[in-house]
Amino acid sequence: MVELSRQRIRRNVWDRPDIAAVWSGEPLDPRESHAIRHQLSQSGFYTGLSRGNLILDLASGAYSYLDIRKFNGAKAIAVDLSSHMLQNLRRQYGQRYGGYVLGDGTQIPMGTNSVDRTLCTFMMRYLTEGEQKEALLEMIRVTKPGGKIALVDYEVTRHEGEMTRFSPEIITQTLLDRDIQAELAVAGKTVRVESGVLPVPNARSPMHFVTLTV
Ligand SMILES: C[S@@+](CC[C@H](N)C(=O)[O-])C[C@H]1O[C@@H](n2cnc3c(N)ncnc32)[C@H](O)[C@@H]1O
Repeated sequence: MVELSRQRIRRNVWDRPDIAAVWSGEPLDPRESHAIRHQLSQSGFYTGLSRGNLILDLASGAYSYLDIRKFNGAKAIAVDLSSHMLQNLRRQYGQRYGGYVLGDGTQIPMGTNSVDRTLCTFMMRYLTEGEQKEALLEMIRVTKPGGKIALVDYEVTRHEGEMTRFSPEIITQTLLDRDIQAELAVAGKTVRVESGVLPVPNARSPMHFVTLTV
């Protein structure tokens, strides 16, 4: 019960116009966005993209780390559970995104194997551990075999008076689960995980960059 109401409060917070406004500009430290953009390119996230491909920006918020010049004709779709975040994103990026969709990362409103790349920046640590696992499995479900998922998040921060956490170990542990391995085998997916910490000087806590090749 307590866990459920905590989740509801966290979710309601994201749809407040004032919170959406705070997250609508450049990150306070430009070295943060530079490090993320650089690593996205280095990790091969854009490699092989072409017209007809789809890039999912999950929990897009109102700020984009994607570089449209590297899309090579692919389209991006933003999914977020906050309508205010999506409105602010649309105001800034307009037709640079192919769609703006209200949806929950633990139940992504997209078909199985429907996207070629998935990016998810700074969502995971706001979810409970159970939700993080669900969101991970949803990202793998919607991403086509051969596709890539990039996950970026701080290890620990304080948000609305609560400590929020993300650790790449949650990903490796989830993928080691035998039932999940069996599910992935049925789906024809083998997932390779690579993870590292981005070099952001004076970062509040380690910033993890995790790449999953599906
Ligand atoms: C800290 S902001 C980050 C936004 C953006 N990705 C960025 O890096 O600037 C967190 C975003 O995650 C979204 N979010 C939180 N929980 C979510 C969930 N379960 N499903 C989808 N989006 C979620 C919030 O609405 C918010 O836009």
